[in-house]
Amino acid sequence: MSAPVPGKTRRLLLAPSLLSADFGALGEAVREAEAGGADAFHLDVMDGHFVPNITFGPALVAAVRARTRLPLDVHLMIEEPLKYVEAFQKAGGDSLVFHVEARSDPEEVIRTVHRLGVQVGAAIRPDTPFSRIDPMVERLDEVLVMSVYPGFSGQKFIPDVLSKVRAARERLDALGSPAPLSIDGGIVPETAVEAAAAGATFFVCGNSVFQSGEVADNLRRLRASVNEGARRAVR
Ligand code: DX5
Ligand code: ZN
Repeated sequence: MSAPVPGKTRRLLLAPSLLSADFGALGEAVREAEAGGADAFHLDVMDGHFVPNITFGPALVAAVRARTRLPLDVHLMIEEPLKYVEAFQKAGGDSLVFHVEARSDPEEVIRTVHRLGVQVGAAIRPDTPFSRIDPMVERLDEVLVMSVYPGFSGQKFIPDVLSKVRAARERLDALGSPAPLSIDGGIVPETAVEAAAAGATFFVCGNSVFQSGEVADNLRRLRASVNEGARRAVR
């Protein structure tokens, strides 16, 4: 087993969530965020069953794929991820993140996504303990801790989830796993510092990137915050 990855050498990634962008000018939002320093894009797929909202499907992922070379992190807030992972892989998703609370068998989803040749992540809602993901961490390429209840952008960060971020960090480090540890929901500069200090490495940010001001300035502020948080991380 390899030694734990020291905090300073971890790559910190900013992933704007396109749910907060203007859908009427999505190509422009993608271009601006990429030029402004985004490391990946986060795409929130909602089916109206797993969550009380409906967003978009593979066709939109494919449209984004055609406009950027950055990795696409596809967050499947859907009841039956197993049925759809192939469609999202074909659409150009680089990591397919399913919810352990959904109806599909997690191990089957992991096997299927790996067979498709892309990365697989598992996500937990704020009310789901880390123990639900713990048994499968070794087979995951991404662990996503939600810091709001899935369904809508622009909600307030729930600080209680930071203890799960710390638990996930410890587990990934013990395994020597390079898997991104994602935090999703209510990430603004102030909460980004906390999340980074707790060990998150992948920061989904929706409203804080697209809702006001300049995309590049917003990304710069978030970048400074996550760097500051990582410096504060005590290990
Ligand atoms: C919520 C989504 C999030 C959300 C993030 O269900 O999974 O990715 O769009 O948006 P902000 O950063 O505005 O909370
Ligand atoms: Zn998301």
